[in-house]
Amino acid sequence: MKPARSFASDNNAGIHPEVLKAVARANIGHAVGYGDDRHTRAAVGKFKQHFGADVEVFIVFNGTAANCLSLKALTESYHAVICTDVAHIHTDECGAPEKFTGCKLVLINAPDGKLTVESVSHAYHGIGDQHHVQPRVISITQATEMGTVYQPREIRDLARFAHQHQMFLHMDGARIANAAVSLGITLREATRDLGVDVLSFGGTKNGAMGAEAVIFFDKKLAQDFLYLRKQGMQLASKMRFISAQFEALLSNHLWRKNAEHANRMAALLKKKVGKIPQVKIVYPVEANGVFVQIPRRAIAKLQKRYFFYVWNEEESVVRWMCSFDTTEEDIRQFARFVAETVGK
Ligand SMILES: Cc1ncc(COP(=O)(O)O)c(C=O)c1O
Repeated sequence: MKPARSFASDNNAGIHPEVLKAVARANIGHAVGYGDDRHTRAAVGKFKQHFGADVEVFIVFNGTAANCLSLKALTESYHAVICTDVAHIHTDECGAPEKFTGCKLVLINAPDGKLTVESVSHAYHGIGDQHHVQPRVISITQATEMGTVYQPREIRDLARFAHQHQMFLHMDGARIANAAVSLGITLREATRDLGVDVLSFGGTKNGAMGAEAVIFFDKKLAQDFLYLRKQGMQLASKMRFISAQFEALLSNHLWRKNAEHANRMAALLKKKVGKIPQVKIVYPVEANGVFVQIPRRAIAKLQKRYFFYVWNEEESVVRWMCSFDTTEEDIRQFARFVAETVGK
């Protein structure tokens, strides 16, 4: 029999019980639609507690939209967005960022998933030249698509570079909770205080049913966002049910507890599978993902029981993700099965 939980993605996990309870609590009577309700006001209040009273918060359905609309708010179609060649906005959003913004994505090879000032400065050219797209946004992912985490200094340097060159720093924070706990800092210290201008804040991978938000740290940038969100088909009529999820995650440190747990499970998984001679850990495990190289012939056998994604087919690298609901027993069973399977 297949186990109940797998290691494919943190969005394969269910809904955290506290989040589900919050949705049920919001399910009483009628409430005005489109965000003019008490749960949305409460959720925005929670975001303000975490990030500062002057932030602008817009709730959306999913992470692709949070990214696309964030970038749309910062750009004209002749601008360019600088990101890594493994950025979700490049690899996993079906060209939606290009469709919605009209902008070119300028890709930077990033073996550890991170941009650096050095790598970005090579892509920053053609300024004022009518034949070139004009770089306008640096977009980073925190935690990265490779399970690594930018250090605060690295983000501060990128923000400084962006601002010195009339660019903005956007953060795809689908896993910002995992990154913040990995660094041992608050959500604000991990974003706004480092110079991030706009944040795609992820709730779904942190235990929500489906809840993401765009957070502007400079109100001026949010000026027309209400209209962009509606045109972008992301204005939820029954917004209270998304908002209630954020109320739960951002109360009683639930976001932190969930992320801490997922990260701890990834560290345990790394420890267990790292002992298996045929398994090679390929990136530092700094958040909730473990990337390993395993014998090619073992992949299909493992996938028969546990679903997960192949990250790099050529190099036989696979990705194993942990979630808020991964248990130590899940890890022990999986590691045992990996050891048996790769050894055959
Ligand atoms: C780095 C990153 N950004 C954004 C997203 C959000 O994607 P979705 O549109 O599926 O919510 C994901 C989800 O896989 C992700 O891993």
